[in-house]
Amino acid sequence: MKETSLDVVFTARDVPCRDLEGVGVVVVDVLRATTTLTAALAAGAQGVWPVDDPEKARALGRDLGALVGGEREGLALPGFDLGNSPLEYTREVVAGRPIVLTTSNGTMALGHSREGRWVIAGCFNNLEAVAVHIEACEKGPVLIVCAGTDRGSRLSEEDLLFAGVLTRRLTEGDPSRWHLQEGAIAAREYAAEQRRSVAEAFREMAHVQYLVHLGLGDDVKWASQMGTSDTVAVMVEDAAGRPYLKALGDDE
Ligand code: MLT
Repeated sequence: MKETSLDVVFTARDVPCRDLEGVGVVVVDVLRATTTLTAALAAGAQGVWPVDDPEKARALGRDLGALVGGEREGLALPGFDLGNSPLEYTREVVAGRPIVLTTSNGTMALGHSREGRWVIAGCFNNLEAVAVHIEACEKGPVLIVCAGTDRGSRLSEEDLLFAGVLTRRLTEGDPSRWHLQEGAIAAREYAAEQRRSVAEAFREMAHVQYLVHLGLGDDVKWASQMGTSDTVAVMVEDAAGRPYLKALGDDE
């Protein structure tokens, strides 16, 4: 059986250097963009439009009649309907609604990845569902894109941990399928060195400590849970050609 390549890039800004033609992409921003958009879709949101700029997010929100959410430096933006906490995106608030989301790193990583053969969003909550989806896809190279921090210019440990755990899960599931590239080997080794639960590993991470300092410890707890969601967000285009994420299998 022919092996296919599995690789990891460590920051959003690394993505434009990669040729994504024919490559399946898993974008991850565990804290918190991909965790939040997964929660929004699981709660019945119609779709999540990732936008990199707050002004453009406001304008698109008006066009779509959408709820506008997101953050800068972890905090909700003035005039926005929602911040970037998965706990805010409840069924009561988001069911049936389009959402426009702008965040510091995650929405940039999604935007940079749009040329992928397919693009999905991963987080610890849906890691198993993401792995099952990848295994069901037609074989081909896969790239895990870590959003990172500081506008996608520096590595974020929680994203690297996700990339490592997903790499381990995929290689254990079907070892003959994957040829690991350097990024995937490094991520898998980082995850192997942790030898503890995601929640325990989180405690020492810089962005975790920052969010806890902002009083957002419940978001961190939510994001550290494994296997709590079967929802996988997949990128598609709307009638105007804008990329957005919808729940896989949701044909509405
Ligand atoms: C990001 O895009 O970097 C995050 O979602 C930031 C956060 O809200 O914690």
